Amino acid sequence: NNLDSLYRQVIMDHYKAPRNRGKMDGDTLTIDMNNPTCGDRIELQMKVEDDIITDVKFLGEGCSISMASASMMTEAVKGKRVADALDMSEAFSDMMLGKDVDADEMEEGDIAALQGVSQFPARIKCATLAWKAMEKGVKNED
Ligand code: FES
Ligand code: FES
Repeated sequence: NNLDSLYRQVIMDHYKAPRNRGKMDGDTLTIDMNNPTCGDRIELQMKVEDDIITDVKFLGEGCSISMASASMMTEAVKGKRVADALDMSEAFSDMMLGKDVDADEMEEGDIAALQGVSQFPARIKCATLAWKAMEKGVKNED
């Protein structure tokens, strides 16, 4: 249907023109994580200052879902408080598992495009890869 094709377009847009893709200089939290089901990996870099994620970038190779999701994640968490980013990550996982999620928590936007993915369980790990990397990074920092 139309919504599905809109969602596909959003995912392809992030895949072809990823936001915040690249490398940062200076002191950063750096997290390498791979998806054990396929071996694809992501390298995430974050700057956290006064409990705020002030910058975030990613590199890596993976399927369109994982790369689009990484792009969307970086946009979603940049400028957010760490606690709020963790809440979003939890909401995102719940959404991928097909649970009802308060739309506010997810701030909707492009991320909603990934909701359709949750119908394909094999892809859930692709969609959550970047979010798990972000979680690991901010949790290790404490
Ligand atoms: Fe991840 Fe196919 S898209 S397993
Ligand atoms: Fe490897 Fe999706 S198939 S991250």
